[in-house]
Amino acid sequence: MLLILPDILDPERLDNIRSFLNTGNFVDGTLSAGANARRVKHNEELTAQHKQRQYLDQLIMSQLAASEMFRSAALAHRISQPVIARYHTGMAYGDHIDDPIMGDSNGRFRVDIAVTLFLNEPEEYQGGELVVNTTFGTQRVKLPAGQAVLYPASSLHHVDEVSHGERLVAVCWIQSLIRDPARREMLYELDQARASLRHNAPDSAAAAQVDHVYTNLVRMWSEL
Ligand code: NI
Repeated sequence: MLLILPDILDPERLDNIRSFLNTGNFVDGTLSAGANARRVKHNEELTAQHKQRQYLDQLIMSQLAASEMFRSAALAHRISQPVIARYHTGMAYGDHIDDPIMGDSNGRFRVDIAVTLFLNEPEEYQGGELVVNTTFGTQRVKLPAGQAVLYPASSLHHVDEVSHGERLVAVCWIQSLIRDPARREMLYELDQARASLRHNAPDSAAAAQVDHVYTNLVRMWSEL
């Protein structure tokens, strides 16, 4: 499932982030890449030493966590610190799948989901689409600033070369409580039915039944 998450960052928060990034120090993105990714990765990343880094990370992660759609689709167990990536003209990230395990020895986690949050407007650059191979074919994603896309980290994907301007994104990786993408997708759909029943027929037996089934499926399938 590839899902667009609208309204993750409002214009004020975006301005805030972008003004910090103007003063930020970006380094070669291959420094943080595994051996295979290094061959295809051509971008830059904000250094961890940036003095507002903690504030930026927390802002992005809290805004993601505040999204009901994100919570329902990801059922997150762990969320990585965001990587803030910049692509100048001529930069791209070739076909790859994301690393299966991230973090260090005191906080390793399995990577089930990737989220790309767009930090500048599509008009500010040409090219730079995120291209994801899905079971329903290839999806090309280039979103307005403040919106994000969520997709399984196991899917083959790349970022098209930026042919003009500059592309700015934040990427987070998530370990879900639900490892299997097909189960996650079914739970997401069931949760939508559950929300709709809660709204339209809150006192009905169906609302209670669907709520119980959803809750027990999460219990049955969760890995902690
Ligand atoms: Ni990737």
